[in-house]
Amino acid sequence: MLRLDRFLAEGTAWSRSEVKKLIRAGRVSVNGRCDVKPEMKIDPASDCVLVDSVRVELQGRICLMMNKPAGVLSATQDRMDRTVIDLVNEPYAGRLFPVGRLDKDTEGLLLLTDDGNLSHDLLSPSKHVSKTYFVIITGAPDETIVTRFRQGMDIGERRRTLPAQLVFLSVDGDFLADLKQQEETETPDAPQMPAGMISLQKMQEFCIRSIALTDYDRCAENECCAAVSVTEGKYHQIKRMFQSCGREVRFLKRIGMGELMLDPELESGTYRPLTPEELALLEKR
Ligand code: URA
Repeated sequence: MLRLDRFLAEGTAWSRSEVKKLIRAGRVSVNGRCDVKPEMKIDPASDCVLVDSVRVELQGRICLMMNKPAGVLSATQDRMDRTVIDLVNEPYAGRLFPVGRLDKDTEGLLLLTDDGNLSHDLLSPSKHVSKTYFVIITGAPDETIVTRFRQGMDIGERRRTLPAQLVFLSVDGDFLADLKQQEETETPDAPQMPAGMISLQKMQEFCIRSIALTDYDRCAENECCAAVSVTEGKYHQIKRMFQSCGREVRFLKRIGMGELMLDPELESGTYRPLTPEELALLEKR
């Protein structure tokens, strides 16, 4: 079941607010009834929704998971550089746009869709959907950085960053102990994580299943690996947060959005449609 206003915004070119005006103006009917409200629940498969006597039906929505390679822009088109849409073949090309942006040099999970509502829900600051990254930074692990990420920090924006989760990792599997230890040392006065933040267990699962040894192998001497989850999407946010702690990001790869994990089998530069189970994870919030 779907709200009537959402159904209409997904099935037409009208925005949610335009749809509400149409409903108020009495131009929308459901199964012949005109006394309908935006929040009314309808079944897209069986209910007959008309706008000015024209039936509205949902087009098949497309949502692809891409493993974005470095060197490609998260945009639909660009005069100079290759974009993620240039990597997509028919029958998908031309209808899709990326859900948010990754920097040109950032790799990993990028969703491509033709569904404006889905994109809005995943990116809206009020929804706090977490984004989880694998990161290689300069210097050694330092718990004071973990605390600064938890407390939120000034990165030159109007507001401080929201509390974020940072876990230092290592190739020999020590991160399991780190996560457990971190959970055990959580104190009641530690800042509350935003509502959409994934659990440490989920973060741990992403790290175990989604980060390849070849990703760890990029870590040079005097550098370390970490996993970070944030629930915002400020410009260059991860790089600026580490910079504010005196560190430089050498490699950045997104491995999760909400509870959706980057498929470790997906080669860099390739994509596949989300499974119904994965779509449900995105819509669960
Ligand atoms: N934060 C960054 O700094 N870059 C990205 O691409 C994504 C998050």
